[in-house]
Amino acid sequence: MLNIVNPRQTVLVTCRADVKNFGKQGVKDNIIAIDWHTPLAFNPMMYAISVGKERFSCELIKASGVFVVNFMSNANEKEVLFCGRNTGRHIDKFEATELTRDEADKVDCCKINEALAYMECEVTETIETGDHVLFIANVLGSEVRKSGKRLYHTNGNEFTTTLE
Ligand SMILES: Cc1cc2nc3c(=O)[nH]c(=O)nc-3n(C[C@H](O)[C@H](O)[C@H](O)COP(=O)(O)O)c2cc1C
Repeated sequence: MLNIVNPRQTVLVTCRADVKNFGKQGVKDNIIAIDWHTPLAFNPMMYAISVGKERFSCELIKASGVFVVNFMSNANEKEVLFCGRNTGRHIDKFEATELTRDEADKVDCCKINEALAYMECEVTETIETGDHVLFIANVLGSEVRKSGKRLYHTNGNEFTTTLE
């Protein structure tokens, strides 16, 4: 199916929750690479992401009900791929990638300083779709910080970008 729907813009979704991980309770910040995301409505502004049930991020977003969609530059391809190939259950992906974290303004979550743009989201509905979970959310805040070439996933570890 991927060779039919791709290329798709890859974003990094940040999430935070107080969860029990390997027997230890604590607040975890995490980053997941996401291709399956879409705008849903202008009024109110709504966005949705589809997250695999076994992902650590799925557990965090279910627990907190919030996430931030970070739109990345193609200059961050290496970091994006890392966040899409490693689980945050074992590692801190901010430390591992050296992406830097900022506090979101409208939701209790982190966002990524290096992002070109971001949207702060609060989940309104959670729908099970096969092996994924569709998180439907209201966008409480958004900002385009700078322009730049975006990152599009083609296949496997391969990406492309736009001309401008
Ligand atoms: C380019 C790319 C796009 C991805 N898109 C999605 C996606 O849309 N939904 C999803 O659940 N996983 C997607 N993944 C897989 C997750 O990013 C990956 O399983 C990640 O390691 C999960 O991290 P976590 O366990 O810390 O949440 C993608 C991976 C890559 C490399």
